[in-house]
Amino acid sequence: MSRLPLTPPARTSTGAKLRAVQADITRLQVDAIVNAANSSLLGGGGVDGAIHRAAGPELLAECRRLGGCRVGEAKLTAGYRLPAKFVVHTVGPVWRGGTQGESEQLASCYRHALQVAVDKGVRSVAFPSISTGVYGYPVELAAAVAVNTVRSALQAFGALEEVVFCCFSATDLAVYQELLHCEPS
Ligand code: APR
Repeated sequence: MSRLPLTPPARTSTGAKLRAVQADITRLQVDAIVNAANSSLLGGGGVDGAIHRAAGPELLAECRRLGGCRVGEAKLTAGYRLPAKFVVHTVGPVWRGGTQGESEQLASCYRHALQVAVDKGVRSVAFPSISTGVYGYPVELAAAVAVNTVRSALQAFGALEEVVFCCFSATDLAVYQELLHCEPS
């Protein structure tokens, strides 16, 4: 199990805790982890590949029945062999320079993922840094969208107790921690 950071969590007005950790998301003990998938939902590399490897083949079998997912939308499956009960699959935008609506699409990923999780009674959810790997979204820009979107979306999701931004590198962790410990913009 990944140790949670020493830095105290940032809190939102609803009392939900926001944390950034450096960890492998497949090992986090949260109710749901979010997968940065592609529109087929049939697996891939990066965090998508790691989640499918850790969850086992039943995950792919369930994903096959979902009929894909559009960019900015989210679909939920069971977590199977993962510590997390659920996986919320979302499809981030491919970075095309920032003039093709990428930030709105990325914000939509976070909003829809939270909505799908809360509809299932989830209390704690962990996000990877969606679109910042293969899809090329600059992490500083993506992290700002992620933190701002989650902070404002939590007003509507009072039941959520914890949102974890799961970073895969120390560099990414520093970006999220900076954002979390600044006052909301
Ligand atoms: N735990 C947490 N974060 C991870 C893990 C992991 N085990 N593995 C990778 N990451 C991080 C990457 O370092 C990056 O910061 O997840 C972030 C997202 O990177 P990608 O997984 O490449 O996702 P994305 O940029 O959204 O591209 C999605 O890649 O894997 C394919 O099928 C996927 O086509 C889709 C595309």
